[in-house]
Amino acid sequence: MPLPKTPPKTFHVKSFGCQMNAYDGERMAELLSAGGLAPTDDAGAADLVVLNTCHIRERATEKVYSDIGRLRKGGRDPLIAVAGCVAQAEGEEIVRRARADVVVGPQAYHELPALVARAAAGQSALDTEMDLDPVFGQRKFGRLPARRSRTASAFLTVQEGCDKFCTYCVVPYTRGAEVSRPWAQVLDEARALVDGGAREITLLGQNVNAWTGEDEAGRAQGLAGLIRALDRLPGLERIRYTTSHPNDMAGDLIAAHADVEKLMPFLHLPVQAGSDRVLKAMNRSHTRDTYLRLLDRVRAARPDIALSGDFIVGFPGETEAEFAETLSLVGEVRYAQAYSFKYSARPGTPAASMTDTVPADVMDDRLQRLQAALGRDQLAFNRHSVGRTCRVLLERPGKLAGQKIGRSPWMQSVHLLTDAPIGALVDVTLADAGPVSLAGVERVPIAA
Ligand code: SAH
Ligand code: SF4
Ligand code: F3S
Repeated sequence: MPLPKTPPKTFHVKSFGCQMNAYDGERMAELLSAGGLAPTDDAGAADLVVLNTCHIRERATEKVYSDIGRLRKGGRDPLIAVAGCVAQAEGEEIVRRARADVVVGPQAYHELPALVARAAAGQSALDTEMDLDPVFGQRKFGRLPARRSRTASAFLTVQEGCDKFCTYCVVPYTRGAEVSRPWAQVLDEARALVDGGAREITLLGQNVNAWTGEDEAGRAQGLAGLIRALDRLPGLERIRYTTSHPNDMAGDLIAAHADVEKLMPFLHLPVQAGSDRVLKAMNRSHTRDTYLRLLDRVRAARPDIALSGDFIVGFPGETEAEFAETLSLVGEVRYAQAYSFKYSARPGTPAASMTDTVPADVMDDRLQRLQAALGRDQLAFNRHSVGRTCRVLLERPGKLAGQKIGRSPWMQSVHLLTDAPIGALVDVTLADAGPVSLAGVERVPIAA
């Protein structure tokens, strides 16, 4: 049994992994602040450190243990709370292996202050209960305080969990079954975010386009309906959503890209691989062809749409010829940006027991070739944008005096010199392109 500790006065939340973790981290910080604790930017000085962890690849998981070691260096002994997907997946094991004081799974964050109090009193503090009732349980969604935005671009979780069970992936186990947040709750939070200064909202979900619900009139709605409702929200200028699954890419969502003005021309639609045999072994339930035809429809609805994806190289059994199909798919799609990863065997997933593993050096080589192709396409997309005029949402200051960094409608990072404040939408002519960002020039209206 751990010894009692002084109740914490300051805290620091460190989030790893996906945007949903970033969102959850913000909500945990709000919850702790509401309980009277003061946030600090210095993890090394905080009385309570919340590590909001990611389990998606082995390296992400190992980071938790090295971080805990670092926090305890030099005789310091802060309260350590492990939250996020590693907490959900490893539970007790984290207490045993690293003496964490609190272990809290993604569906129990509303319990965090109570768990911290228990830990400070020297009692065990672990909650990894999953929400078993997708409609009424709402363990997490219903019980956290409403949040306000501190930034021009804010996240809003509308859906959580995954029922797809891709054979390599831990998310269905760490985040549970697909749950949609109710319509009114989403719109209320969106209003609060806009009141707090958000101009752009990104709707989040592990399968965000699987969102379903009912509107005020009791009509069944999908993500497209929610987006159309947000389009009517005064003060909100831009809507994005991520991450989508190809199987849930409904016709009305594609149509929304054609006629909802605030919906930005950007779609992150992971494909993972270009070979049908590999896709089947991954249990992706789309083929190369159904994926490509889907993109044709999206492009027909919104010809300038910027496409993004996720890729895994070196899935068990992937041959050189199969990897070449991933490269050829990339050549066909010409992504505006993308993420690519080496396959990582995750305990408890079906793929982890597949024996025909791909050697590390082969994976390295494939990742390098894939990233070279994706980098080439990203630069080409950026170069193609040069000369365009678009609105840029200013998100943060740049390194140079007067410089600001914002995003184009196509999610590109744009650097420019402007007097306009953070949070402003400015008209910009894209003047120069690099591999990961563009330089823009503010368009100043000609005085009459
Ligand atoms: N729900 C999203 C994203 C899930 S996780 C989707 O369905 O695409 C983000 C990305 O991590 C995945 O798209 C995949 O490319 C990658 N990933 C997931 N599990 C992995 C594993 N075991 N090894 C390597 N990459 C993995
Ligand atoms: Fe993981 Fe597949 Fe679900 Fe995405 S769709 S979260 S990759 S199981
Ligand atoms: Fe990681 Fe969990 Fe997100 S495993 S990617 S933090 S859903």
